[in-house]
Amino acid sequence: LSNEDLYRPNFHFSPKKGWMNDPNGMFYYNGYYHLYFQHYPDGNTWGPMHWGHAISTDMISWKEQPIALYPDELGYIFSGSAVVDVDNTSGFSEDSKTPVVAMFTYHDMEAEKAGKTIDETQAIAYSLNEGLTYTKFKGNPVIANPNIPDFRDPKVNWDEDRKQWTMVLAAGQEIMFYASKDLKQWELLSTFGEGIGNHNGVWECPDFFHLPVKGTDETKWVLLVSINPGGPNSGSATQYFVGDFDGKTFKIDETFQKELAKEHSFWVDHGRDNYAGVTWSNVTTADGGKLFIGWMSNWLYANEVPTEKWRSANTVARELGLIKGTNTYRLVSKPVKELKNYRAKKVADRAIPIRGKAILTTTETISLSKTEINFSISELVQAKYTFSLSNKQGDSLTFGYDAKINKYFINRDNSGKTDFSPKFSDRLSTAPRTARTKEWTGKILLDKTSIELFYDDGQTVMSEIFFPHAPFETLSITSDQDNFTLDALEIHELKFN
Ligand code: FRU
Repeated sequence: LSNEDLYRPNFHFSPKKGWMNDPNGMFYYNGYYHLYFQHYPDGNTWGPMHWGHAISTDMISWKEQPIALYPDELGYIFSGSAVVDVDNTSGFSEDSKTPVVAMFTYHDMEAEKAGKTIDETQAIAYSLNEGLTYTKFKGNPVIANPNIPDFRDPKVNWDEDRKQWTMVLAAGQEIMFYASKDLKQWELLSTFGEGIGNHNGVWECPDFFHLPVKGTDETKWVLLVSINPGGPNSGSATQYFVGDFDGKTFKIDETFQKELAKEHSFWVDHGRDNYAGVTWSNVTTADGGKLFIGWMSNWLYANEVPTEKWRSANTVARELGLIKGTNTYRLVSKPVKELKNYRAKKVADRAIPIRGKAILTTTETISLSKTEINFSISELVQAKYTFSLSNKQGDSLTFGYDAKINKYFINRDNSGKTDFSPKFSDRLSTAPRTARTKEWTGKILLDKTSIELFYDDGQTVMSEIFFPHAPFETLSITSDQDNFTLDALEIHELKFN
């Protein structure tokens, strides 16, 4: 198999050619979900940053579009967001066309090369053709740098209660909150983060939105903060905070703060490969959830992964919700509902007795690289449950749950090509199980080079990439204790054109 055949994802977005990192500027308008991304089209490692662009009607099948933003004399185009300015608050409209306004960071490479650390400002650009092409605003930058070395990644959201735009910006290891009436003039409202959460790295790519708490009348505000390095399994990861917002200040919820102080288990994803993820603007799910996508890599090794024509893919698009968990609020994620439309072939079984190692399926029955698997075990016992994906070449990827230490794990040490970076498989990834139920349920999404695990209705998520020498052919499960019953197993092969 060619590098392309072996590693080009079946259903995760990857650029046709060149480098990709953070998702940027996602908005929904007129039936299309737009996705922009940090892109270097002329090389397969990080370089002069552009905004690449792709569109989709369902967030699963993507069509790449021409590059939307090119670097210029003010700098590289770093991460940011986009909003649909329905009321033309910006005044950019012409011929009654609705403007889409993108806000991004200019990173001044000349300044950086000259040894200056203050090299980032915020700027805007507008589109009058639904996000296809943009005109940069003549008055850029719209926010000058107040002498902060890492000052970037503006995420704008419409605040319906205050009828104004709210923007969150990463500033060193804090988040700055801004407001604007016209997307051009920005007022600093407040700063959040000192002494709260994980600070073992730079804070990047924030997002801020409210979510209904499932099964209640309550609404809470959620702040996403990507951090690099310092993730729970080293390198890049995204933490979240839950609290309240009065239009000026974000106040962390007391029960949340208490739990956070005990153990920081508040990560959008505990796997090593979901970074810089943010949500779509101008759309929510039917029950008020937000739509999210992340970059499925990690700065520890992103530039070295063994793909040739392109580098990096995104996570599956996900719906974010909020639940009241055991002691406080918890973010839950699941793949967008549109993924179900791709189910093609299914095998299902109930009450499967497992003794020793049991083969659950092989590629003779169903593909293991475009696959959705749902399982449940109704009575967890003090055992280590291990799933394993393997091939004849001797590669294997193992993952599962160790009830004795209450931890989920992924081990990709023997998953194929790993030696491109000493950091890729230098450790097991683990995540604490925060659900308290006896029943254990999980959803597993498999593509050629990625696994996404949604445990306990999405309360704990782990996403990781791998590069086997040949496609995985067998999926098995085993436990180090007595026999047990897998109460339900459903395997769907997905079909993509
Ligand atoms: C996060 C990040 C952002 C920045 C972009 C540059 O991965 O470092 O903070 O805007 O990547 O490509």
